[in-house]
Amino acid sequence: MTITSPTPAPSTPAARLTGWDSIEFWVGNARAMAGFLAGSFGFTITAYAGPETGVEGKASYLLEQGNIRLVVTAGLTPESEIWNHVRRHGDGAHDLAFLVDDATATYEAAIARGARPVDEPYELTDEHGVLRLSSVATYGETKHTFVDRRDYRGYYCPGFSRHGIPPRQAGPTVGLVDIDHVVGNVEEHRLDEWVSFYEDVMGFTQLRHFDESQISTEFSALRSTVVWNGSTIVMPLNEPAEGKHKSQIQEYIDTYRGPGVQHLAFRTDDVVQAIGSLRSRGVRFLEANDAYYEDLIDRLGFLDIPWDDIRRLGILVDHEPDGHLLQLFTEPVTDRPTVFIEIIERGGARGFGEGNFKALFESIEAEQARRGNL
Ligand code: FE2
Repeated sequence: MTITSPTPAPSTPAARLTGWDSIEFWVGNARAMAGFLAGSFGFTITAYAGPETGVEGKASYLLEQGNIRLVVTAGLTPESEIWNHVRRHGDGAHDLAFLVDDATATYEAAIARGARPVDEPYELTDEHGVLRLSSVATYGETKHTFVDRRDYRGYYCPGFSRHGIPPRQAGPTVGLVDIDHVVGNVEEHRLDEWVSFYEDVMGFTQLRHFDESQISTEFSALRSTVVWNGSTIVMPLNEPAEGKHKSQIQEYIDTYRGPGVQHLAFRTDDVVQAIGSLRSRGVRFLEANDAYYEDLIDRLGFLDIPWDDIRRLGILVDHEPDGHLLQLFTEPVTDRPTVFIEIIERGGARGFGEGNFKALFESIEAEQARRGNL
């Protein structure tokens, strides 16, 4: 009797990721970036780490709003790896950190399944317990840190202190509650490879795919696949596609000098309040034109949403069979035109505003054409 076995599966099951832990930016001036995110986006600076707290060579600020945790970190010495990162990429999102039950098992599973190691499992200890961490590489110079908080009862991370942080900034409540999704731009023709990475290494599955026939204008095209952990971690991946002019994704890759995080989408339960507050705090958004709203009301006027506020605040609307979504995209938040932020309220729709991408960019291009700049 001959026993045949199917292609052997990786012997280690994919690690279980339980959710987002935090997202860390590496920047040139952490104090200024923290102040900007606090003042403009309504985050609260809740902890600081640096030489004063026993952390050498870098300064970090923890910012929180709802369940969202951002960390902005700058290097303090010329030889800092953070400065090398900033020199190549400008300010950017370097670490997309996930909560896990076991940082060592997760790391070993990821490595067994082909991940490139960045930080072998290590521990940080203080009087509040032990924080266990490890990390692996993803696209570009971005990494995923696995954070095991089971034996740590401190506030965030050893080395971070709640003392000496800047006073809370005044301003209207924004009301961002969660990380909805985090989008990465990857190299042309490598989208499928990165999708396989998230499937094979992280145990993610595909949620959606769009190609250039769905997300393109005459001038800018992209392909996109959304992978997720089946729960709260949702990560669309884009690659440039051929268009008449350079794809906006290729422009990002050229500007960031490689693949990286394109945008962070933060979910709110009240987009009218959120956008109203953000506008009053001085945040600048990509603006749709009147033609966008005329077309929108023709197509979606039946939706029971606050149309007057939506048009007044320039909020974008998309609709799918399972519901609608309301969203808006900021201008880039870094000096190089790379990373931007999306604000989204979901009314049942699980998509990402594909209808708006086309409509918004076409409306921008129509304006450009009217000015003779296209
Ligand atoms: Fe998005």
